[in-house]
Amino acid sequence: MEFIPSLQDIPELSKDLLKSAVFYAKDNAPRKTYIVLASFCGAAFLGYIWVKQKWKYWERKGVPGPTPSFKDIGNTRSTFRDHGTQLGKDYPMDAVGIYIFGVTPALVIRDPVIWKEVCVKKFHNFTTSGRSSANYMFGKVSPDFLTVAEGPKWKRLRSTIAPFFSGNNLKDICLIINDLFDYFDDKFFPKDELTSMDAKEFASNFSLRAILASGFAINPKENEELADDLYKHASILFEIDGKQAMKTMMLPKWLRFKLNVTSYPHSTDVFFRNVISDIIENGKKTGKKNLISLMAEKIIDDSEELTAAKGMTKGEILAQALIFQFAGQDTTATVLSFFLFALSHQPELQEEIRELVAQTDLSYDGLKKVKFLDACIKETQRYFTFLFFLREADEDCEIAGVKVDKGSSILFLPKSVHRSADYYPNPDVFDPHRFDNNESNTLQDDYWFGFGIGPRACPAVRWAFVAIKIFIANVLIKYDVLPGEDAPGMDEVNARFRGTKVTTDKPMPIRFRKRA
Ligand code: HEM
Repeated sequence: MEFIPSLQDIPELSKDLLKSAVFYAKDNAPRKTYIVLASFCGAAFLGYIWVKQKWKYWERKGVPGPTPSFKDIGNTRSTFRDHGTQLGKDYPMDAVGIYIFGVTPALVIRDPVIWKEVCVKKFHNFTTSGRSSANYMFGKVSPDFLTVAEGPKWKRLRSTIAPFFSGNNLKDICLIINDLFDYFDDKFFPKDELTSMDAKEFASNFSLRAILASGFAINPKENEELADDLYKHASILFEIDGKQAMKTMMLPKWLRFKLNVTSYPHSTDVFFRNVISDIIENGKKTGKKNLISLMAEKIIDDSEELTAAKGMTKGEILAQALIFQFAGQDTTATVLSFFLFALSHQPELQEEIRELVAQTDLSYDGLKKVKFLDACIKETQRYFTFLFFLREADEDCEIAGVKVDKGSSILFLPKSVHRSADYYPNPDVFDPHRFDNNESNTLQDDYWFGFGIGPRACPAVRWAFVAIKIFIANVLIKYDVLPGEDAPGMDEVNARFRGTKVTTDKPMPIRFRKRA
């Protein structure tokens, strides 16, 4: 996940710097005052010239695109705010040049065929989703994240975790998540149908516990306090303050790693490190199979990090455990919350799913037959698109007729495909049946990008489908889902990033009515 700074951050940071300069100056002799202020103004002027030069990149290449500004952090906020909708209207060509996260040039690609080419055929030249400073805001564990790792190390990490998402393992995971539902029902469902709850918060409580129970072998029923603390600390990670994150990113990487500077409180860092070590130790004792024990099957020495074909270092295990929470909790909760919200507006859709679920049991094989639920998940991710994709060029190359330099980024905003009549008839209508006979095609679908495509696509796609299907099936057996108090219409809600968390521009309240 990329970090998107908020509008206030840049002016706030400059204000902070200026304030420090003035305070320093006040405490010192007048001559020093002038020297400090003159140095500040000189540095600011040089910075300004440097940024302005950087913002000439696309103009020099003759690639069209909007004018960047400081307020927009290049073109970051305006592009991501509406997932490139306005950009597409203003610049309807195949390739548009913008600047993201300040001065990084990014070529926005609109054609899904070209994007697929970047991710699959040209993967050898686009092996990462970027090497920006934001990737390292988790401190010294950051380079070990699967999302950040590169080359043979990335391959080793990815192949080590792959068996966890196999069909056989998913069967056990189904049992675990089904079991979790009863506990969740007691603890988190409202006691009456008048109580409105926020769909995202409700779904996040579930997704965190589903990952804990199925991935880390921590049963939230038996470890309530730990699960609650994890939720609290995970929320801190998702609420990372933009100002703090940018300050952290300004420090050179080597210094950040040496001092283990993170964008979130040290206590949260220590909490996660301790919990993961305990899980590894506990897994060894009980012999219970889970994601952590799978990674801990072959622990290698730090010196083997670049040469080993199998296994993980202790640091890498900790990093994956963190990134699974980070990459998995909010994404799963986001899809689930949009799905629940859509259901609350469509009682007839609830009835249709209920009838199909009634014909089977909720095992892995049973739910596999309810393909319509897969179609609903795909439609949810199409209608409420919230993700975007980035790749960084490892070498100079040509994409969509544009010469792309090593180090520049390619950006794909799938909403431009998901909500386009060129690919989906009546794109603004929520209709899961549009995926009839194409329900299970997730990583290969030409025009659907819920989990990405190519070797860097989400490794947990099958887990996510299983978890969401089990949860929704259980909910609909027991409850009617209703719109909450003052709920907006489905077409009034848009996804937004706030820090690293996906939120919506309007809240999505829902209610539950127990079925007889
Ligand atoms: C509905 C839930 C989820 C959605 C929508 C989602 C979506 C994505 C997307 C779009 C990507 C990037 C693909 C690309 O750049 O082409 C990704 C990567 C990734 N996801 Fe997920 N994800 C979900 C759940 C999970 C879960 C539960 C986990 C972990 C247990 C997870 C772990 C990862 C990891 C580690 C990567 C990086 C893979 C790599 O770089 O090799 N995701 N995910």
